[in-house]
Amino acid sequence: MRKAFITGITGQDGRHLAELLHSKGYKVFGMMKGQHNPRSEMIRDEFPFVEIVPGDLTDLTSLVTALEYAQPDEFYNLGAISFVAMSFNQAELTANVTGLGVLRALEAVRIVGGAQNNPIRFYQASSSEMFGKVREVPQTELTPFHPRSPYGVAKVFGHNITMNYRESYGLFACSGILFNHEGPRRGLEFVTRKITNTAARIKLGVEKELVLGNIDAKRDWGYAGDYVKAMWLMLQQDEPDDYVVATGETHSVEEFLEITFSKVGLGDWRQFVRQDQKFFRPAEVDLLIGDPSKAKTKLGWKPEVSFEQLVDMMVTHDLEYESARLNK
Ligand code: GDD
Repeated sequence: MRKAFITGITGQDGRHLAELLHSKGYKVFGMMKGQHNPRSEMIRDEFPFVEIVPGDLTDLTSLVTALEYAQPDEFYNLGAISFVAMSFNQAELTANVTGLGVLRALEAVRIVGGAQNNPIRFYQASSSEMFGKVREVPQTELTPFHPRSPYGVAKVFGHNITMNYRESYGLFACSGILFNHEGPRRGLEFVTRKITNTAARIKLGVEKELVLGNIDAKRDWGYAGDYVKAMWLMLQQDEPDDYVVATGETHSVEEFLEITFSKVGLGDWRQFVRQDQKFFRPAEVDLLIGDPSKAKTKLGWKPEVSFEQLVDMMVTHDLEYESARLNK
């Protein structure tokens, strides 16, 4: 039985990936930090097949101990401080977890190694935030980075150190440069879920308005369930490499609003949306659009869920989820 070790198991991607790997017959280990992590019960209920292993990306010894215990074939490093806005307020913590955490994870892989003829394969969750103030459109694996947030800077370090460990020590280490990916499991702090969830609450009469920052920003939004398949495919190749994972389409936050409010049946979003300076960022990423050609050609990967279907899936989920909460 193949074994996989996932950091960030309680996040959107960790949960999708755990499901995917379980369906492929893997034994799945999920690393969790803290003495009494409130999310551990959610994982136990939702994914009883996941074995929770204690560990923390800021503690190398704990990573080594966790890997020695799990002896995985594949290590997916999805753990991070992942909210860009928060990284401006907690820049040092972000650098430590999102940046240095990758170095510690790679060191742990180097130390524990895995079976001689079957070394641990490593996946790093790199991000399109690394492109920041974009140098070219669309962005490919070769586009230079210009990060615009402490989060983006930390991800550039993670990306480069992964490449460096591959080149220096011959690790089977890959980075997936994932563009924004969403779905019903997305945290409420991210703009897509904030929009679909608040729109559902307005429709049900429990909220009056939606307060946002910059609605001109454009993103290449895909479905998280599609994107975890690309992560797995990267670790099944003969050679380790880096890949852009994206849809190749871009849409503004305003377009997301328009479709959501019309699907919910509230009409013109302008009646419900207010902008507030507190949701604007000190430096913004204005436009992201990825070119997934390499992933398509080499991995045989392509996104299955369209932008419209994604918004529809999230709106439908949030209407059901919020009415169930109301009727409790
Ligand atoms: N979160 C949030 N809340 N974003 C807002 C709001 C708001 O009220 N109003 C406008 N926005 C804009 C942000 O300024 C940004 O331009 C855009 O909406 C998307 O913001 P997020 O959904 O927070 O995502 P992100 O693009 O900053 O980062 C996500 O994608 C990255 C991949 O490019 C995160 O998932 C990162 O972890 C990931 O690496």
